[in-house]
Amino acid sequence: MKIFIDSADIDEIKQAYEWGIADGVTTNPSLLKKAVTKHKKKNKNLNLKNYINQILKIAKGSPVSLEVTETSKTGMLKQAKNIHKLFKSHKNVYIKIPINPAFKESDTTHFDGITVIKQLTKLKIKTNCTLIFTPEQALLAAKAGASFVSPFAGRIDDFIRVSNKLKVDKTAHYPVWGMQKKDKTLHDNGIVSGIDLVEQCVTILKHYNFKTQVLAASLRNTRQVRESAMVGSDIATLPFTVIKEMLKHQKTYEGMKNFTKDIVPEYVKLTK
Ligand code: E4P
Repeated sequence: MKIFIDSADIDEIKQAYEWGIADGVTTNPSLLKKAVTKHKKKNKNLNLKNYINQILKIAKGSPVSLEVTETSKTGMLKQAKNIHKLFKSHKNVYIKIPINPAFKESDTTHFDGITVIKQLTKLKIKTNCTLIFTPEQALLAAKAGASFVSPFAGRIDDFIRVSNKLKVDKTAHYPVWGMQKKDKTLHDNGIVSGIDLVEQCVTILKHYNFKTQVLAASLRNTRQVRESAMVGSDIATLPFTVIKEMLKHQKTYEGMKNFTKDIVPEYVKLTK
């Protein structure tokens, strides 16, 4: 499973690539806002084009997702082409397009994301279809030619809890098999957990040999990373905080202390 860093903060991205664990980057408007706010404190004349160019350079050809902020069909298409043109030389930009840019049921724009993905695919512009909350959304995005589909695991877990008036602790583990209330498994349209959503997307896309890769997104803890890998997700995008947790275990620290105590000097002399 590839690991992407879910961040627009150049310091975090740089560190993850220096550690050698990052295979790509995902950003969204909220992550970009957070990063720009932080970096503007250091440099109020922050040049966003240079900033993004630096991120693309750090990523060394690995995929970097940049999201459109327009919501109309023509607006998204124009902006996607502009983003592609601006950073074309790096060859690693993936345009993030929402699966459905409508704000409410009565809007008439539900299929605009799909149409835009289809047009960008024809132009050979790579896309990451975002805000996936059902396997059927993933199927339509894959049929339109999206390179990645991003099921939002953590947000589904939150949604199931909120809809059932349960306390939401975002970083706490949400069972893959779902949560029970009055002997019933809670679900959203048959999806019992965020990882269940990821698994259903993986199953469907593998079944029909789509080239589209499943990118497990909105992951909040290391167990969700493990579970994404167990259900065969192609990619997991992780916040920096989750990446940092992945290597920690008290028995690893203890093992290191004990092995260090037992070092035979002759061995060190021989091998140093
Ligand atoms: C990544 O592509 C998504 O934008 C991101 O994982 C969303 O995560 P969140 O639900 O924690 O905001």
